[in-house]
Amino acid sequence: MKAIILCAGKGTRLRPLTHTSAKHLIPVMNKPVLLYSIEKIKQAGITDIGLIVSPDNKESFQNVFGDGIDFGVRLEYIVQKDPKGLAHAVLCAKEYIGDDDFLMYLGDNLIKEDLDTFIKSFKDSKADATILLAPVENPSRFGVAKMKGNNIIAVVEKPKNPPSNLAIIGVYIFSKAIFEGIANIKPSWRNELEITDAIDYLINNNFIVNGHIIYSWWKDTGMPDDIIEANRRLLEDLADSNILGNIAENSLTQGKIVIGKGTNILDSVIRGPVIIGENCTITYAYIGPFTSIGDNVDIKNAEVENSIIMENSKIINLSRKVDSSLIGKNVFIKEIEGKPKSLKIVLGDHSQLTLKD
Ligand code: DAU
Repeated sequence: MKAIILCAGKGTRLRPLTHTSAKHLIPVMNKPVLLYSIEKIKQAGITDIGLIVSPDNKESFQNVFGDGIDFGVRLEYIVQKDPKGLAHAVLCAKEYIGDDDFLMYLGDNLIKEDLDTFIKSFKDSKADATILLAPVENPSRFGVAKMKGNNIIAVVEKPKNPPSNLAIIGVYIFSKAIFEGIANIKPSWRNELEITDAIDYLINNNFIVNGHIIYSWWKDTGMPDDIIEANRRLLEDLADSNILGNIAENSLTQGKIVIGKGTNILDSVIRGPVIIGENCTITYAYIGPFTSIGDNVDIKNAEVENSIIMENSKIINLSRKVDSSLIGKNVFIKEIEGKPKSLKIVLGDHSQLTLKD
């Protein structure tokens, strides 16, 4: 069985970060979101993976993942020219998939659950589709399934009046019957070929569609707050400290901490769970729980907590704590002493700056 991971799409809710990179490459606990999906799929024994990418973001994926060999998988890049919907993305991968059953994974989703039981439940059944579901409090944000026993008897995309609280969380297994479904649907109100409509076709044409419900944590990382939460959840599970860098004697460390090679911590307090990349300098600083700091970051005379600071950024002399923030690459934040006390800002399009007294 092959897998496809869908990584085209615009990522508008994560601008400005997605102006320069795909949302799937945003680091969570210092690893791109997409790497977690690749690892889950590989762990389930699937090593042939087609990445559905857009013409704009293909190169950024290739730069990180190459042909996949370093990650123990074989990656094929399949370009979807325009993000015309999830079903359209599947159609772009038709030749790659061939006639076999396949796993489809939405590349911006993180799940904790291993995929083995899910794949086994598909293989043990006579189903043409098995869909991973989870109960949620806000089903209107998702595709929603109505079940009878193990069978899904209806699916609807982002309904105003959800028929249940079971959200489609972005992992599916299909037989080639899904291509018949896709051939028989029309673009939706948002002008996309919806995979939910193709699944609905299967249900209404006597194919068997099953649901597989999970109760463990998962996240659609579509918004900045989702990314911060995902980072927090993954850091919560940090197994052990691993300190390769140098912590000077006048610093204090508490809890589980990972510190990369070449990083220097001086006169600072680091309270885990925290991960700090390679070649960073942390001086007169407080790094609080649930913070991930990428490589080559410089933090001096500042406090950071529950945040993601990406590579090559600098945070210098801040009188306010940086909290619950998502800071991109090569960002420079510095407070200057003296009068007038003012803000001097260069922010790109779609940036967000929230100041609290
Ligand atoms: O997060 C789960 C939800 O994902 C499901 O409950 C919905 O049924 C499903 O339609 C999907 O909804 P979203 O609105 O969250 O989908 P989004 O546009 O964020 O796209 C999901 C992934 O698929 C993302 O990694 C981008 C990629 N994609 C999206 C489109 C529209 C493509 O590769 N091609 C596309 O044409």
